[in-house]
Amino acid sequence: MAKYLRLPGLIDPHVHLRDPSATHKEDFETGTQAALAGGYTTVIDMPNNPVPTLTKAALKDKINRAKHRVYCDVGFYFGSTGENIKEFKKIINKVFGIKVYMNITTGMLVVGDDGKLDTIFKHWPRTRRMFVHAEGNTLAKAIELATLYKKRLHVCHVVLKEEIEMIRDTKKRGMDITCEVSCHNLFLDKTNAKKLGPFGLMKPGLGTKIDRQSLWGNLDFIDYIGSDHAPHTKEEKLSGNPPFGVPGLETTLPLLLTAVSEKRLTMDRLIKLTCTRPREILGILYDKETYTEVDQNIKYEIRNTDLFTKCGWSPFAGMNVKGKIVRVVLRGKTVFDGEKIIGLPKGKVIFPPN
Ligand code: NCD
Ligand code: ZN
Repeated sequence: MAKYLRLPGLIDPHVHLRDPSATHKEDFETGTQAALAGGYTTVIDMPNNPVPTLTKAALKDKINRAKHRVYCDVGFYFGSTGENIKEFKKIINKVFGIKVYMNITTGMLVVGDDGKLDTIFKHWPRTRRMFVHAEGNTLAKAIELATLYKKRLHVCHVVLKEEIEMIRDTKKRGMDITCEVSCHNLFLDKTNAKKLGPFGLMKPGLGTKIDRQSLWGNLDFIDYIGSDHAPHTKEEKLSGNPPFGVPGLETTLPLLLTAVSEKRLTMDRLIKLTCTRPREILGILYDKETYTEVDQNIKYEIRNTDLFTKCGWSPFAGMNVKGKIVRVVLRGKTVFDGEKIIGLPKGKVIFPPN
């Protein structure tokens, strides 16, 4: 009997690798090593760096910097504050979608102005989905604009009961809307906030226990789980003005495997939420030579000192999990052996299908 369970390579559709321009927090090497250590073979990177991805030139620069340095496959999203509409056509074949920040968060990409928001929704080509950060009331606004301009909408990091219920109802009405839940919102809530202090601060913020329960209760309407891996240094977090965001690439799969061992989640659902649906929604091809092996029986404690992410901490440190990544294989080559990264970077920069 096989000792290890083989999962298709996992896809994290929501990460912030911080490269270029915030590489003191993370960079292409450390971020993609963290991905492999977490069982992920593909990640899609967000545009909100201090030097944001708003032009063809910025995207080209990002792609060139990533080449030959990434340990797993990496794709990109484009960004907009409503002033770069002319760039859309030039980059549409190179990105998996556009990220639109409709609420305050880390970075300079928040679109506060309704006119600019309207312009973005109007001009973004229909061939690619629009990924929105839309909390609370702004979620209704995003649905309204996507309906008006007939765009496919993806709602990032859903937290609240009202939000998941609104998405559920919108899906039932037949709209092409998809959504994601960040792993931390399935395993943490406001009851953990005091102990975590700045290390539990992210946008959107942690929900209540009721919100968390409603996410678990509505798994049928959640398309996939993203980590929203958003590393910041310990020093930044402990400063008087801590930035929002927490890392998550290395803890998502062990936490989900623990939920499987506790029978709160089926293995089929885990695979759907971390590989199958992201692949379908983003249009990423399946490769049978790319997979992750896990030992479902190993119990261990999440420790900051074991992490590959440059930031070196996790909001889950001290938590006990059951289920460990023992091997990651990328296109037939072992790239992580459960302890260390093997060999030179073998990841590729990937693009969506046309
Ligand atoms: C993210 C970051 O640090 O880039 N922070 C966060 O709290 N999630 C930005 C984002 O995803 O909103
Ligand atoms: Zn994010």
